[in-house]
Amino acid sequence: MDLVLDDNGPLYLQLARALKEAMAAGRLANGTRLPSSRELAYDLNLSRTTVVAAYEHLRAEGFIAGRVGSGSYVTSPWTTPVRSPPVRRAVVAQSDYSRRLREFSDIGNIPGRRPPGMRYAFQFGVPMVNTALTAQWVRELARAAPYVQPNYPRIQGLPALREAVARHVGRTRGVACSADDVLIVGGTQQALSLIARVLLDVGDEVALEEPHYFTARTILQVHGARLVGVPVDADGMQVDRLPDPAVKLTYVTPSHQFPTGAVLSHERRLALLEYARLGSGWIVEDDYDGEFRHDRQPVRALQELDRDGRVLYVGSFSKTLFPSLRLGYIVMPPGLKDDLIAAKWTDDFGSPPLDQAALANFITSGAYDRHLRQVTRKLAERRQLLRSSLQAQCGDRLEIMESHSGMHLVAWIRDMPVEEGEALIRAAAERKLALYSIAPCYLQPPQRTGLIMGFSAMSPGEIRDAVALFAKCLALFPRRKAGERGRPALYLARSSG
Ligand SMILES: Cc1ncc(COP(=O)(O)O)c(C=O)c1O
Repeated sequence: MDLVLDDNGPLYLQLARALKEAMAAGRLANGTRLPSSRELAYDLNLSRTTVVAAYEHLRAEGFIAGRVGSGSYVTSPWTTPVRSPPVRRAVVAQSDYSRRLREFSDIGNIPGRRPPGMRYAFQFGVPMVNTALTAQWVRELARAAPYVQPNYPRIQGLPALREAVARHVGRTRGVACSADDVLIVGGTQQALSLIARVLLDVGDEVALEEPHYFTARTILQVHGARLVGVPVDADGMQVDRLPDPAVKLTYVTPSHQFPTGAVLSHERRLALLEYARLGSGWIVEDDYDGEFRHDRQPVRALQELDRDGRVLYVGSFSKTLFPSLRLGYIVMPPGLKDDLIAAKWTDDFGSPPLDQAALANFITSGAYDRHLRQVTRKLAERRQLLRSSLQAQCGDRLEIMESHSGMHLVAWIRDMPVEEGEALIRAAAERKLALYSIAPCYLQPPQRTGLIMGFSAMSPGEIRDAVALFAKCLALFPRRKAGERGRPALYLARSSG
């Protein structure tokens, strides 16, 4: 402990003063356990009697609590939180990479997060609260722990997990691969980062859907890609609008377009594969929630149709289990395997083996399939509930996009310009309801208001209440007649009462 005695008076009082100073400065915060008198005497080269006397003195003054033998705790009257010295980021970015990080990423303002203090949130991309899964996961971890080697993990991932993933995606998504083609990664996030590093040079062109998954956009931008947004309609990305000459990489969500929910049609799948083949380009297939097909058999993966090894199929356990697991996978085309595995090695040596072992067992035991069936059923019910509640309470003010899978819907508010939409989001937040604009999903945001409405993080009762509150907020902004000009958003937000 960093204590300076002031050479003034009896040693035990000098020590008591030094400890109080440390408390006042916040270096010894409330609740901190002090070292035993024996340890502190040894550290400061004092007699134990001196330290015991200092502790007794502080105890009498109410600065510490607890007993000799069972430990003493700081109960200081100062509430100064322990603060690390303010860290200032270098004024000048230190590299081109850091310049791009500053330009494109804003980690203080990540879209889709739940703001504090909200009662309801149509948050998307978060799995259902599932206490049974948590309990099961604890058991899987305990079962796997004794068999996990303490040494560095296998770079490519635990063979048992790669095997389990290969069989699972083969069976459920039609992905043709063996365990040897699978690279275990830290979620889609790391997958995209590794792929960008392996495939892209600064200035390379990358095509992505417009609208798209904003995080994928940020990763690509930070790696120096020049992005081309390709519009999406009810059949997914309009592949005939891909740039000519062909781009190096195309990022798509074919099974459940993020965020619109469209499914890429068979013809477009074939056209996209042909585009990549002719241009010697690559396709990233992000299959983030393709397992949650509510009404029919899951749509098969694009990778199934790939005869030329141009598709990198990316899957994640963030939606099917939980995002803090930070596990996902890339099914690698043969030409990129070595580079991707080497990139993973330079990044982190390999993903944590305990979680991988638990997950391998969870999948092979059949528990994962059971869990997916259960969750898919519940998600289908909640999607239907959200849809019918919105229709009942908001009538024809909303245009809800067709979608048969996943954990969110997209709803456009008819005749509501963007500024009014922003005022609606603010008015809802004042009433403790978090709404999520679709705008961050665009390179060129549209001139109308669209919302992404997640339904996985709310119980059916909460969905009903949240929709009722949403309808009240929406009623504060009466529908415009054709040609009517907008009133100032501020006025609208304030007049909402
Ligand atoms: C389109 C899309 N892909 C992937 C993910 C999952 O990312 P990760 O596996 O890094 O948690 C998300 C999460 O919201 C997503 O929306």
